[in-house]
Amino acid sequence: MSDWLKTAIFYEIYPQSFYDTNKDGIGDLPGITEKLDYIKDLGCNALWINPCFESPFFDAGYDISDYKKIAPRYGSNEDMYRLIEEAHKRSIRVLLDLVPGHTSIEHEWFKRSMKSAESKDNPYLKRYIWTETPWENFQGIEHIFGALNGICDRGSVAVNFFSTQPALNYGFANPDKEKPWQSAVDSPEARATLSDIMDVMRFWLSAGCDGFRVDMAHSLIKGDTDYSHVILLWQEIRAFLDEEFPHSVLVSEWGKPDLSLKAGFHMDFLLHFGPSHYVNLFRENPFFSGEARGDLKEFIRYYKKVCKEADGRGLICIPSGNHDMPRISHKLTPHEIKLAFVFILTVPGAPFIYYGDEIGMKYLDGIPPVEGGYERTGSRSPMQWDESPNAGFSAAAPEKLYIQTDTDENRPNVKQQSADSNSILNEVKRLINLRKDNAMLGNMPPIEFITAGEAGEPLIYSRGDGKDKAYIAINPALNAVKAKLSEAVRLVYTLGEKPIISEDGILLQPQSAVVLMGVD
Ligand code: NOJ
Repeated sequence: MSDWLKTAIFYEIYPQSFYDTNKDGIGDLPGITEKLDYIKDLGCNALWINPCFESPFFDAGYDISDYKKIAPRYGSNEDMYRLIEEAHKRSIRVLLDLVPGHTSIEHEWFKRSMKSAESKDNPYLKRYIWTETPWENFQGIEHIFGALNGICDRGSVAVNFFSTQPALNYGFANPDKEKPWQSAVDSPEARATLSDIMDVMRFWLSAGCDGFRVDMAHSLIKGDTDYSHVILLWQEIRAFLDEEFPHSVLVSEWGKPDLSLKAGFHMDFLLHFGPSHYVNLFRENPFFSGEARGDLKEFIRYYKKVCKEADGRGLICIPSGNHDMPRISHKLTPHEIKLAFVFILTVPGAPFIYYGDEIGMKYLDGIPPVEGGYERTGSRSPMQWDESPNAGFSAAAPEKLYIQTDTDENRPNVKQQSADSNSILNEVKRLINLRKDNAMLGNMPPIEFITAGEAGEPLIYSRGDGKDKAYIAINPALNAVKAKLSEAVRLVYTLGEKPIISEDGILLQPQSAVVLMGVD
């Protein structure tokens, strides 16, 4: 694993909504470059930028029509090279979003693959998964989302997500001999797809990017119910990267670290879907809300299991949110968001902060959907920089904005929160500094849960192995609670009212958190 990952703290940027420098109502790459000092000052040292490549934007850019070209609305390839250079000058790493599972229907590969009548040597005929007739679909085949039929004179084509996102053909785990359109994983067409995707990776890594967040990483091989084939595929990709770009980094959108880290990813996320119970932290019946009284039993059970199975192979990352789920603020008060950040910034793995969560931006429930965002659009609104029109995001007329801003006149913004020592922003900065100053709280040292995540109980865990340990205790409840901590401890951080520490334990105040260091 690259050394820099051991201290990486990521910031996810949705480029459409971060900062608009050319007044067209949509964020752009020069806008990200301009705000790098803000990100550095926050304490983050790595970026994940959502797809910013040429696209018809039926799924906000997750439907790529040219992998090697920055979409003009964000700027040019030169703007990306400059962004990477300026980020590196500030010791900030840059991960781009790799979408290997599907393209847009407007990608040149897809346009060529629709032309079945073209000569037999058309190298793209099997780049996608076409059945013989439009009446055949893909029901029951794992990792095929649906079918697009009637788009040309060929059969149905498998799609990975929306109908505008045809699945690339990496082959089938167990191709059905009766169905010649099911390619084997070692067929020339599957190998050609892989080779072209490796070439895309080579292109951006040669341009200086530090690696990729990989979209739907688990989905590439069809019918691969136990993931054994896709694991081999990613191991091959990892070997190629180790050879040509040994410092490059891969984080998967997979949500099953026991599998993805084995596949060669350095990091995987716990997500709002999949087996992790991540939603119980901050979203559905959230543990971190004083009112909700949810429990974390299942979350802790799963988390312990994957930590054990991953066996130190890579990092298990707990994001504050992302562009696909309601924001952390949806179910939590500003103070509870701070409690949640105590957790996010004191657990192992690389923390990922979704832009705007550090100021508690709202989830805009019910706003009109934009570019295939549907209800996800509410988490994708423009970053709120200051009190000026459009919250300082853009000098365009408000009706020209890509997504509307929060219309609340008290909407939080960076300028006001920077000046307020009690703000979420300043709490996040304090916590990042605490993490940086105390090696035990960093990305690598192990975690041990002292409580089991019962509702109403404080969440207590330790970090570090050996004699020196850090202890974290978080009490989201509206009442004070007693916490047993046998070791002698020194208080290094408090959120909320100070605890009462006595011989037989600690009285944690309502909705408070503490970090303590074990002392001999
Ligand atoms: C996951 C991405 O995060 C999401 O935004 C996108 O719609 C799907 N994958 C399809 O690419």
